[in-house]
Amino acid sequence: MPTLLDLSVQGDVGTLADESRLRSVKLMDPQQLYELWERQNWEAHSISLERDVADWQGMSEEERGHLAWLLSSFFIGEERVTTQFSGLVAAYESQGEEAFLATQQVDEARHAQHFNRFYRQVVGYDGTFEDRLRQAREHLNEAFLVLFDRHLVDACRRLLDDPADGDAKVDFVTTYHMVIEGTLALTGQEFITRFMEEHELLPGFTDGFRNIARDEHRHVAYGTWFLQQKVRAQPEAAGRIQEKLAELLPIAAAVLVPPGLQLGDSYELLGYSSDEVNQYAFTALSRRLRVIGVSLPAVAA
Ligand SMILES: [Fe+2]
Ligand SMILES: [Fe+2]
Repeated sequence: MPTLLDLSVQGDVGTLADESRLRSVKLMDPQQLYELWERQNWEAHSISLERDVADWQGMSEEERGHLAWLLSSFFIGEERVTTQFSGLVAAYESQGEEAFLATQQVDEARHAQHFNRFYRQVVGYDGTFEDRLRQAREHLNEAFLVLFDRHLVDACRRLLDDPADGDAKVDFVTTYHMVIEGTLALTGQEFITRFMEEHELLPGFTDGFRNIARDEHRHVAYGTWFLQQKVRAQPEAAGRIQEKLAELLPIAAAVLVPPGLQLGDSYELLGYSSDEVNQYAFTALSRRLRVIGVSLPAVAA
């Protein structure tokens, strides 16, 4: 099976019949996704973290260090995707889309709140929310900073400058919904949740994280809907999406590489091999792209 690092393998996942079936998939529209949000609402501050504190204290120094590093990407990631979202809200094209996008921004703020509570009460970072963000930032690698502080910030700024710029909206949704949420966040969430459940660890954190993943699926569903509509109306948008993916996927693949290692090295995340993690990301992304009507870009691994 190909992984995220084998993007030069294009179009060989699934058959042609699969391909046309996936392209005709009918997706939920933003109004339906907004209504789903009303039904799936949850409260970060109602979750008890009591058992988590005891679990955390029972872990070895090494385990705590590895988790604090790994979860920092999510804590800072949620802060980044909250603040860098206003441009897309301004770029709505229907009332249903405006309503859905407003819910996505509040979801991201709630996700950051969940992490802030966890880092304060369980990990034990003192000070303010801002102090905790600063401390968590020290764990991040260069690829994370390039993706979230440069590419995401630039994509948001272009939309804020001109919310009617259709190309900027395609670039933003490809960056945010396909790469950051659809490839990185959902993959990380899958393995971290699996690990916590298998080891019966940090139940409060995991409860919130499962709710976060459900929100992320709704967000990615919007991004998939938007890009599918775009490609159907303007087939040339497919090339634009591919170009953005070719630029960003190698950076995304490097975000989860632990400190001291490089992209291409074998490593383990919570006991799962880097191959398994990359393969999961690749399969989910390629399936979503086929629904949109885009093949994976050819990139030298
Ligand atoms: Fe989020
Ligand atoms: Fe999200």
